[in-house]
Amino acid sequence: MKGKKQVLNSRCEIYNYLDYSFADHLVQDITLGMTGKKKYIPSKYFYDLNGSQLFEEICTLPEYYLTRTEISILENIAPYIIGSSSQIDLVEMGSGSDTKIARLIRASSYLQGEGIRYIAFDVSESALYEAARCLTSQFPRIQVLGYVADFTRHLHHLPHVENTIFILLGSTIGNFTDEEMYTLFCDVSRAMNPGDRFLLGIDMVKDPVILEAAYNDSLGITAEFNKNILNVINREVSADFELDDFDHLAFYNTGREQIEMHLVANRPVTVIFEKIPLTVHIKKGESIFTEISRKFSRKRIEDTIRPCNLKINAWHTDPDRWFSLVELSKVFQ
Ligand code: AVJ
Repeated sequence: MKGKKQVLNSRCEIYNYLDYSFADHLVQDITLGMTGKKKYIPSKYFYDLNGSQLFEEICTLPEYYLTRTEISILENIAPYIIGSSSQIDLVEMGSGSDTKIARLIRASSYLQGEGIRYIAFDVSESALYEAARCLTSQFPRIQVLGYVADFTRHLHHLPHVENTIFILLGSTIGNFTDEEMYTLFCDVSRAMNPGDRFLLGIDMVKDPVILEAAYNDSLGITAEFNKNILNVINREVSADFELDDFDHLAFYNTGREQIEMHLVANRPVTVIFEKIPLTVHIKKGESIFTEISRKFSRKRIEDTIRPCNLKINAWHTDPDRWFSLVELSKVFQ
C-alpha cells in the first residue's frame, strides 16, 4: 500500500499513511482511560496546536535543561556523526519542528544539503509541511520525504534507504512503556542495514530536585501544558472539563526512575463526554495520569536494546551527564 502522495516542490514529497480517524482512536482511548480503576489520558493528546506551542515554550525555560543540553551535544558531534560520505539518509521519528535537524546539517560538511535525503515521520501534517519548507529553503540541494504517519506503526513504509541514521531525539522515548520501547527498538533494528546507525536522545537519572524543577517551572507553563490536554478532550468529544477544577502535579518516582505527571481534582467533578456518550465522576483528590517521562542509566539502555540486536556504538553526553545522545548499531549474527 502506498500512502496518498503530495508533491510540495521538486525536492519534497509528502505521503499520508494515517488511515484511521484521529477522533475514533480518541474515543477508544478516553473510554478506556476514564472508566478504569486509575484514570489516565495518553500523553500523545497533549499536542494540538496550542499544546505544541506550549511545549516549544517549555523547551526555552531555564528549568527545562533537556532541549538546550541535547542541542549542545548535537552540535558537538554533528561533523563526526554525519561524516563526509557523498550520500546519507536521515530518518527522523516524531520530527516535530525542523530546528534540531537544521542545526545538525548546518554543523556538518554538507553545506547546501547536497547528498542528504531527510525522511521525517510525524503525525502532524502541518508540522511536516512547515519543516519541509524551512529545510528546502535553508538547504537548496536537500531532498525531503515527509511521512504523515505514526512511527510506532508505519516504519515499514520506509523506502529503500542507504547509509542511514535513524534519529529519535528529545527524550521522546521517555514517554514509552517497556513493551512500547521493545517494539520500537525491534522495528528500527529490523529496518537497519550494516553500517547504519540509530541516534537516540535520552534524559539521564539525576538529582530529583533538578528533575522536579524541570516539570514544575516557576512560570507555570508546564501546568498550562498539562491542563491543555483537557481542552483537547473537550473539543474532540464535546466534554465539559473545567480546567480550574484540576491542579498540576509532577513528581519524580525514584523507584521507577520516571517523572509522573497528573491532573488532580481539587473538588468533586462530574464530566460529561457528550460524543461518546459517557459520564464520569471524579472524587476530590483523585487524579488523572497524563504522562510518564523516563530517566535512563547506561545499564537500563543496554538491557533494553540487547533483545533487539542493538548495541552501543558511542555514547555522547554533556559535561554534567544530564542528557545523552546514544549512537546504536545493529548486531548481525
Ligand atoms: C516531549 C515527552 C520529551 O517528557 O520531557 C515536557 C514532554 N512534559 N514537560 C518530556 C514534557 C512536560 C517531554 N517530551
